[in-house]
Amino acid sequence: MKIAVLGGTGKMGLALAARLAGANEVIIGSRDPARAREAAKKIPGATGADYESASKGADAVVVAVPASALGTVTSLGSALSGKLVISAVNPLRFQGGVVYHGGEGGSAAEELAKALPGSRVATAFNNIPAGFFQKGELVPIDVLVAASSKEAYEETAKIVKSIPNLRPLYAGPLSQSAIVESITALVLNLANLNQTGSLTTKFVSRKG
Ligand SMILES: NC(=O)c1ccc[n+]([C@@H]2O[C@H](COP(=O)([O-])OP(=O)(O)OC[C@H]3O[C@@H](n4cnc5c(N)ncnc54)[C@H](OP(=O)(O)O)[C@@H]3O)[C@@H](O)[C@H]2O)c1
Repeated sequence: MKIAVLGGTGKMGLALAARLAGANEVIIGSRDPARAREAAKKIPGATGADYESASKGADAVVVAVPASALGTVTSLGSALSGKLVISAVNPLRFQGGVVYHGGEGGSAAEELAKALPGSRVATAFNNIPAGFFQKGELVPIDVLVAASSKEAYEETAKIVKSIPNLRPLYAGPLSQSAIVESITALVLNLANLNQTGSLTTKFVSRKG
């Protein structure tokens, strides 16, 4: 599958793109196409382009820009029309600890969905600090996916599963995305307050 990563030059975008490139064709998206091409050189087989061209050339688009920069993605309207848009964006603030701060439109994912009615929108990868992707074998991680439809979940789950050791878990409709995004504040605070090193999500189950 062809996957564009907008914000692909950033800490999260680049680390995630490198993992996605194992089983997908990755296009690094940047506001500056030269920067995108430079970053793409770090990932075998990847290419780089500006946000619009990257989006147009992809089947699915991962958004890994700061929440304050969502406008650069919502303005891509027609380039994202008909595509699956996967948001890893967490609207967070630092006030003593980390505080969740969804905007007036609700969560970042809901804000994207409202502005991009022609796209299918889902959350994924929000709660995984980039460091987990950066080196070595991934530890098993549960990836929480809220999505605008069950079909959008299934499509997103396929992409999540293209990275070994990631297990997608359906978190429900996009109205649940604020919960998914706010878990990032929780894991960051837990790691800091308990000095555990980076934390992410893994759920335990009991059968029977
Ligand atoms: N870092 C993590 O561990 C982590 C984990 C999970 C989720 N996330 C989420 O991923 C997103 C990015 O985080 P990050 O830590 O990777 O940030 P980052 O290192 O600052 O990278 C963000 C990228 O977004 C682009 N960008 C920056 N400002 C922009 C603007 N005003 N308009 C458009 N694009 C802009 C930049 O690419 P260009 O300048 O090349 O356009 C930049 O490389 C955030 O929403 C964060 O919550 C991060």
